[in-house]
Amino acid sequence: MFHLVDSMISYRILILALFVGFIAADEQFGPFTPDFVTFLNEHPVRNEYAISSYKEYGPTGTFGGKTDNQTMNAIHHPVLFVHGNSDSALYFSKDSTGWTNSVRYFREQHYTGYELYGLTYGSRNLNNSLHNSITCRNLVGIRRFIESILSYTHAEKMDIIAHSMGISLARKAVQGGTVHMTEDQCDLGPSLAHRVDSLVAIAGANYGMCLCLNEVAVNMPACGPEGFGPGTCGRTEDGTEENCRVKENSCERDDYSSVLQQINKGPKEAAFVASLWSNSDHVLGINNVAWGRTTSLVKDLTFADQFTLVTTHSRHGGRPRRIY
Ligand SMILES: *[C@@H]1O[C@H](CO)[C@@H](O)[C@H](O)[C@H]1NC(C)=O
Ligand SMILES: *[C@@H]1O[C@H](CO)[C@@H](O)[C@H](O)[C@H]1NC(C)=O
Repeated sequence: MFHLVDSMISYRILILALFVGFIAADEQFGPFTPDFVTFLNEHPVRNEYAISSYKEYGPTGTFGGKTDNQTMNAIHHPVLFVHGNSDSALYFSKDSTGWTNSVRYFREQHYTGYELYGLTYGSRNLNNSLHNSITCRNLVGIRRFIESILSYTHAEKMDIIAHSMGISLARKAVQGGTVHMTEDQCDLGPSLAHRVDSLVAIAGANYGMCLCLNEVAVNMPACGPEGFGPGTCGRTEDGTEENCRVKENSCERDDYSSVLQQINKGPKEAAFVASLWSNSDHVLGINNVAWGRTTSLVKDLTFADQFTLVTTHSRHGGRPRRIY
């Protein structure tokens, strides 16, 4: 009897596993559709960033666009997903899980591929994450991608969901203006805030990350003036990682990342801005490898919240807004 129950359970698990395996193997959300690639190629210089992402990263590197037999009538605002440091547009590895969970969920809620967009930037290797910082190439590239989605879909407004470093890129790309880097500067044009309905920001580091004060990280590009250095708040002597994490410690003098300061001084990016984070994020390890893991979890587990926030401007739902 017990054996029977046991084997029935195993049998069910096996069936479930096969079923899930089948779904996973069958689901392919990327890359960009041929129709969208054709559109991008009409302005190859302007769209170079999206085109090179399409060419470089394969089927998990990009997604979005209409298929041959799809009508152009979007029901929803198009949504752009911007991944974080070392991540991918769609599932690439256990450390670079991309937006697959979100895209699957939005598709289940009747969003079409014509309404969901993403691309990949950077190395998709978590081991390199401390070497990456906010660059003009990524800012200008994301800005151009936003413009091309608006133009391709003829949408008046779009939504943006971004994770970690992707939030900084998306915020500045929408804000526009000139960004001053140590050895570079870029002009992003006028604000696009009037074209963005919702911005959902997941596990952002808008004031830097305390772990950047750790000696392993402090001199790395990801923790510099174009990265996520939290500064010492004028506490030159006791500006340590531990002190940075103490809630009660107020800031005497802002000296966090120059680019983050420029972004935080910029105009609001959207009609509705939501921020999601995890209370356990502060346990992030202090070395390179741990960076991003906990925040990726927030991203992967909040797909339903992302949907509800974008469609109803509330975490608890309510009457869905039919837009467009
Ligand atoms: C729509 O087009 C896609 C790819 O272009 C194809 O796989 C699918 O079978 C088509 N669906 C219908 C209903 O024609
Ligand atoms: C990252 O580093 C670890 C430890 O050195 C190594 O085992 C792993 O293969 C590296 N991952 C990638 C994707 O290179």
